Amino acid sequence: MKLIFLGPPGAGKGTLAVRAVDILKIPHISTGAIFRSAIAAKSPLGLKVKAIIEGGHLVDDQTTIALVKERLAQEDAQNGYILDGFPRTVPQAEALAGFSPVDRVVNFDIPDSAVLERLSGRRVCRNCGTNYHITFNKPKQEKVCDTCGGEVYTRDDDREEAVAKRLEVYREQTAPLIDYYRKKGILIDVDARPLVDEVVANFKKALGV
Ligand code: AP5
Repeated sequence: MKLIFLGPPGAGKGTLAVRAVDILKIPHISTGAIFRSAIAAKSPLGLKVKAIIEGGHLVDDQTTIALVKERLAQEDAQNGYILDGFPRTVPQAEALAGFSPVDRVVNFDIPDSAVLERLSGRRVCRNCGTNYHITFNKPKQEKVCDTCGGEVYTRDDDREEAVAKRLEVYREQTAPLIDYYRKKGILIDVDARPLVDEVVANFKKALGV
């Protein structure tokens, strides 16, 4: 199954994706995670996108589309995938339809107030990317990842000004994709407000798995 996870920053896309990988046995492909790895490695891509991401802006369509096209050509993505954070603009959606049409788009339905609470409390492992939250999902030992022992930190784009920018960019450039995919008849709405186990149950029910 080829799936897109669509929703505002902090809606819980990455968190649900980790659970959905176990359920559906398909890879989780997050453009944000690919960009963050490139930034950490100080690769040419990372140097190009660092300031853009930290400011809460979108990386240009051409760069992002080329990256996703290359990633989806890899063997592990041939039987399906969860695309998290792509597409984020109508040109990205049109490009994707040309090289890998998807089966379903999962729309994470959540108000801004919940998103702000999730982003302000989010912490992430610098090494393996595991997500935590200072209220909802704390690491057992402060600032230490339960999974790999790596350092748990606050993402640079979770600062207040960057979050405000990301929400504005989401509303202007990404939210129009909700109607775009609804008109194609492949959009599924999932109530993303409850705690994770309930969101997983909502997701399974909506997808019929
Ligand atoms: P990206 O990494 O995709 O960021 P995002 O879409 O802003 O999404 P987030 O990772 O912030 O949130 P999420 O929905 O995954 O929530 P999470 O599960 O972590 O992109 C980063 C940047 O890269 C972009 O701003 C852009 O610059 C660039 N980029 C990426 N893709 C691009 C593209 N296609 N085109 C151009 N540029 C692109 O959850 C958040 C918190 O809430 C966590 O702390 C978690 O523990 C907690 N939580 C999650 N679910 C629940 C729950 N049900 N109950 C309680 N707490 C919960």
